[in-house]
Amino acid sequence: MRFPDQVVLATRNRGKQAELQRILVARNITCEVLTLEDFPGYTDEVLEDAADFEGNALLKAQAAFAATGVAALADDSGLCVDALNGMPGVLSARWSGRRDDALNLELVLAQMRDVPDERRTAAFVAAVAYVAEGGIVVTRGEMRGTILREPRGSGGFGYDPIFVAEGLQHTNAEVAPEVKDARSHRRQALDALLEAVTL
Ligand code: IMP
Repeated sequence: MRFPDQVVLATRNRGKQAELQRILVARNITCEVLTLEDFPGYTDEVLEDAADFEGNALLKAQAAFAATGVAALADDSGLCVDALNGMPGVLSARWSGRRDDALNLELVLAQMRDVPDERRTAAFVAAVAYVAEGGIVVTRGEMRGTILREPRGSGGFGYDPIFVAEGLQHTNAEVAPEVKDARSHRRQALDALLEAVTL
């Protein structure tokens, strides 16, 4: 499969668009990255009801490809805590019932109050799906680490203030964005996808 000259990233997030464009340039892949903002008639009301990240990423990429006719990429991600049987998982964005990062993070901390330090392991997981005329590819990336007892740091988003990645001393909200990006679950899934599509 050859990487196309143009892809639509199934998001309205300009930060994700810029990140993908940077990664493509670093790999010498010439490709224009569009987002759903470039298709004014498109309403991205995809029901993300798959049981796993791969399924949700695929639902979003398939919907974007069907609506635009342009090769589509989509991601889905979340935090999987071992002591909570992999939860919040695909429910990460609304774990407390609301799309509220602070409430979601507090709920995870409360649920883990009695979990001892040695069992506070977790992983950020991301899946990336690519859907085009020539085929479908879905990949996965993981960043393993541990969950603290209190939030630390003001950078990042979501559960970053309570997550310390393996090999680091600081939370994802304390380290420089480049440090997190270079090892992130999204980056690993995207790298694997680009390897597979450009083979
Ligand atoms: P989505 O993939 O954009 O639907 O995001 C899912 C949710 O997972 C986000 O709202 C965050 O709560 C959480 N999440 C995913 N990736 C990260 C990350 O890199 N840091 C912190 N939280 C994350």
